[in-house]
Amino acid sequence: MQFKSMVVSNVELSPNYFRMRMTAPQELLASAPGQFLMLKVTDAIDPLLRRPFGLFDVGTFTAEYAGCGTQAYCEILYKVVGKGTKLLSALHHGDVVDLLAPLGRGFDLGPAGEEKVLVGGGVGLAPLYYLAKALVARGEKVRLFAGGRNRDDILCITEFERLGVETYVATDDGTLGESGFVTQVLERHLNKGMRIFACGPTPMLGAVAKMAALHEVPCQVSMEAYMACGVGACLGCVMKGANHTEDTPDYRCVCKDGPVFDSFELQWS
Ligand SMILES: Cc1cc2nc3c(=O)[nH]c(=O)nc-3n(C[C@H](O)[C@H](O)[C@H](O)COP(=O)(O)OP(=O)(O)OC[C@H]3O[C@@H](n4cnc5c(N)ncnc54)[C@H](O)[C@@H]3O)c2cc1C
Ligand code: FES
Repeated sequence: MQFKSMVVSNVELSPNYFRMRMTAPQELLASAPGQFLMLKVTDAIDPLLRRPFGLFDVGTFTAEYAGCGTQAYCEILYKVVGKGTKLLSALHHGDVVDLLAPLGRGFDLGPAGEEKVLVGGGVGLAPLYYLAKALVARGEKVRLFAGGRNRDDILCITEFERLGVETYVATDDGTLGESGFVTQVLERHLNKGMRIFACGPTPMLGAVAKMAALHEVPCQVSMEAYMACGVGACLGCVMKGANHTEDTPDYRCVCKDGPVFDSFELQWS
C-alpha cells in the first residue's frame, strides 16, 4: 500500500535515537513483525529516495484519533545517521509523510512451546518489539539479549519488560549491563529447544548465525542493505545466498526475499 500518514509524535529517546508514531490505514494491522516500510521524508527532490525502516509497533489508538479519521497507527524507532534521518527527526505532530508498507518477508514465529530468543544490536531492536508483542500474545516465553556500544544505544528495554520479556543487556564499554559483546552473554544461555530472531549490525548477525549453527538452534536474521525501490525492481539490495559461487550465482533481494532470512540461507564470509 502507498498512503499518506500524519505524524502523531516524534520523540528523542536518547541522543540521536527517535521513536515516531504515525497514523496508518486499518489494513496495516495485518502486517507481520519483521516487515518494513519505505518512507519519503519530504516532497522535495533531495533526498530523492525513500528510506527503509522496520515496523517497531503497529496498533490501534485507544480512542479514535481526533481529527484524522483513523484508528490505527504504526511506529518506527530510528537513529539519525544522515540527511534523511536528520530531516525525519525535525518532523512534528501534524506533519505528513508518504509511506509504502508493509513490505518484505517478516519473521516466521515458529511452533508454539519453544523458548524464543531475540537478539538486538543498537537500533536493530526496532523490529523485535513488534515481534515480542506477537510472541507474548501467543503465550510464548521470550528472552531479549540487547547489545550496544554504550548505554545510549540500549533502547526501550522497559517496554520489553512490561510485556513480560526477560532481558539481558551488554555494552562494549560496560555503562549498562555486562561489559562486552551481547553474543558472549547469548552463548551462555543457548541450548536446543530455543529459536533465535536477530537484528543488528552484520558482524553481530554473522556471529549469532555461527553460534546458532554450532548449537543446532534455528535462527532468523533481519538484514539491512541500501535500498532504492524496496519492492524487488532495482536489484540494488542484493546479497549473496549460501550457495553462491562465481559459476553459479545465488543472490537474494533483501527487500523482497527478506529482510528476514533463515541464517543458513545466506553467505556469511
Ligand atoms: C529493511 C531495513 C530496515 C531498516 N530499519 C531501520 C530501523 O528500524 N531504524 C533505523 O534507524 N534504521 C533502519 N534501517 C537503516 C535506515 O534505512 C538508514 O539508516 C537510513 O536509510 C539512512 O538514511 P539517511 O538519509 O539518514 O542516511 P544517508 O545520508 O543515506 O547515509 C548516512 C550514513 O548511513 C549509512 N547508511 C545508510 N543507509 C544504510 C543501510 N541501509 N545500511 C547500512 N548503512 C547505511 C551510509 O553509508 C552513510 O554512512 C533499515 C534499513 C533496512 C534496509
Ligand atoms: S531495493 Fe530495489 S530490489 Fe531491493
